[in-house]
Amino acid sequence: MIGSDISPAVDHLRAGELVAIPTETVYGLAANALNDEAVLQIFEAKNRPHFDPLIVHIGQRQLPMFEEYIHDEARTLMNTFWPGPLTVIIDKPPFIPDIVCSGLTTVGLRMPDHPLTQELLSEIDFPLAAPSANPFTYVSPTTAQHVEDQLGDKVSYILDGGPAKVGIESTIMRSDQGGIKVLRLGGLSLDELRKVEPNIELEINSNANPRAPGQLDRHYATQTPLLLVDDVEEAVKGSDLAKTAVIGMKLPELKGVNLKLDLSENGDVSEAARNLFAALRLADSEGIEKIICQKAPETGLGPAINDRLRRAAFR
Ligand code: TXA
Ligand code: MG
Repeated sequence: MIGSDISPAVDHLRAGELVAIPTETVYGLAANALNDEAVLQIFEAKNRPHFDPLIVHIGQRQLPMFEEYIHDEARTLMNTFWPGPLTVIIDKPPFIPDIVCSGLTTVGLRMPDHPLTQELLSEIDFPLAAPSANPFTYVSPTTAQHVEDQLGDKVSYILDGGPAKVGIESTIMRSDQGGIKVLRLGGLSLDELRKVEPNIELEINSNANPRAPGQLDRHYATQTPLLLVDDVEEAVKGSDLAKTAVIGMKLPELKGVNLKLDLSENGDVSEAARNLFAALRLADSEGIEKIICQKAPETGLGPAINDRLRRAAFR
């Protein structure tokens, strides 16, 4: 059931059930992070392998539980960017069950910037474990309807907070003796991060990186084969245009192409990020045999968009 009333969401979460929650990045599939059995259902609903750890979502009410595990560098990031699209990896407190972190000694913590979810978190006294609310490896949901389409029968309630305003998942950071590292590019741009931490390093996850086991090479993937290109006009030549979808920013005319999805007509990369996942879902439809995606410029959220498109194109 979809609704924008938080009281059923509170009741279902207290009962150990799954509730989809809106955030500024993408919708999450939430359960009580302190309840093993509830968290287990998340993995089952998503068909997610147990080696892929979950992010723990908190509001001001849950923050004190974690205080003693937050060191100075992490605190600076949190003070600057929370609530917002940033997940910070900290040492795992013992009260967080191992299943949440796939047995790692760390946990990813995030305070989402969405009024409904903040209100929800103020009503409960436990944190919420939540991955993106999509089947494993598929495109993340940016509307309540996206969740309903794929996981509607597996959740007790979908809290509808409107379309996600950022549209791609949070940036994940970790700091240790080796410095401050970005493990996943996301909704908080590198430009913004560098204003506060000029010396961040990229340690972008792949299958080969044991530190972030969930960042598979193939991810955010459509069923329909997807091609990532620099020049869409060149790429559509030789394609069956009736069965081709093209996604990009400031797209040229492209006569004959069946489905043309312009993520931002005036070339605004943040607007493109907001529209990206809905466009991928739309393009991944009957009758389309090839999705051609234009690379985003490498500014603002562009690198995060391209990271997702590269994984979506990976076969
Ligand atoms: O914006 C987001 O982050 C969304 C919303 C719902 O908050 N959540 C999200 O969760 O994208 P998910 O599960 O789809 O992606 C979480 C990523 C995975 O790649 C996982 O491997 C990584 O975070 N991760 C979680 N805990 C980790 C840890 N302790 N160390 C390293 N990576 C971790
Ligand atoms: Mg995900």
